[in-house]
Amino acid sequence: MIYNYCGHSGVQLPVLSLGLWHNFGSVDDFNVATQMILRAFDAGICHFDLANNYGPVPGSAETNFGRILKNNLASHRDEMFISNKAGHDMWPGVYGTGSSRKNLMASCDQSLRRCGLDYFDVFYSHRYDGVTPVEETMQALIDLVRQGKALYVGISKYPADKQQLAYDILREAHVPCLISQYRHSMFDRKAQQANFQIAADNGSGIICFSPLAQGLLTGKYDNGIPANSRAAKASGFLQQSQVTPERIEAARKLGQIAKRRSQSMAQMALAWVLSDERVTSCIIGTSSVAQLENNLQTLENLHFSTEELHEIDEIISDPKLSF
Ligand SMILES: NC(=O)c1ccc[n+]([C@@H]2O[C@H](COP(=O)([O-])OP(=O)(O)OC[C@H]3O[C@@H](n4cnc5c(N)ncnc54)[C@H](OP(=O)(O)O)[C@@H]3O)[C@@H](O)[C@H]2O)c1
Repeated sequence: MIYNYCGHSGVQLPVLSLGLWHNFGSVDDFNVATQMILRAFDAGICHFDLANNYGPVPGSAETNFGRILKNNLASHRDEMFISNKAGHDMWPGVYGTGSSRKNLMASCDQSLRRCGLDYFDVFYSHRYDGVTPVEETMQALIDLVRQGKALYVGISKYPADKQQLAYDILREAHVPCLISQYRHSMFDRKAQQANFQIAADNGSGIICFSPLAQGLLTGKYDNGIPANSRAAKASGFLQQSQVTPERIEAARKLGQIAKRRSQSMAQMALAWVLSDERVTSCIIGTSSVAQLENNLQTLENLHFSTEELHEIDEIISDPKLSF
């Protein structure tokens, strides 16, 4: 594994982190989930990314993760970096969603209980909710650190103006923002353009989610939608309508470049995300140990020639690919 320092901090994170958004819920195979966590940890993926609502059912990814930790990794807690988030819909009523202090404080307690942990390494505001003052949300994060429930704080998907405000408030309170989480892949470069430099200028690490565009950048949809793929699953966030002919064609062309590089399409897509030097880590999702093994081999070729980058740019510059 390769590790990067996270922004201006002393914390190192693996360039590949494992996310539990899909494939770790109560609808999924617990044995496969266990094998993926253990293989990831053995390979040096010591950072695991959770949120209260991951499942389905919401909360079940945390419960399963807690069981896996207790059964297999209890003595390794200090070798792991575990993140959690609150801000999306979680429980009924007006307090079960959004970025209020009320939601964040209750959610962190619930998540700690489900995971069977005393603290999270980083606790995020999962989103700017459009209403709650950033001051209120950041104060809740600061207080979670003061209470010992989180070691560091992070923000996820904050628009540029709120992002800068969040950094300023956190810095003032001496709880600097460790990490900023944004969606970034060959099919979505909006955050790279709008948010990455602000994060870098403020000393925050950057961690990218959905680096494979939920599987679209693996070539798996080249010949239709395979059974068991995320787009085929009722609980999958990737909609069949997002598997468009333009994206399939682009993935096919990108796959030819990957082949020349002796890489899988997924490996090239991950290497491309990591080629932005501001990126600390990318969070992968996997539905099998075989996918995890495949993605781990990304580390064998992270270098791109100028010509390759140019060729890739030409393919992915089509605005129809973005979503
Ligand atoms: N902050 C936020 O709001 C936010 C939002 C979304 C995600 N996240 C975080 O980011 C993590 C990753 O997101 P993501 O799951 O969308 O990431 P992703 O890496 O873009 O997509 C993962 C999916 O791609 C397919 N895949 C992965 N490796 C493959 C391979 N080698 N060959 C073929 N298919 C492969 C699998 O889909 P199949 O099921 O089709 O096999 C897998 O479930 C989440 O778990 C979560 O922790 C955060």
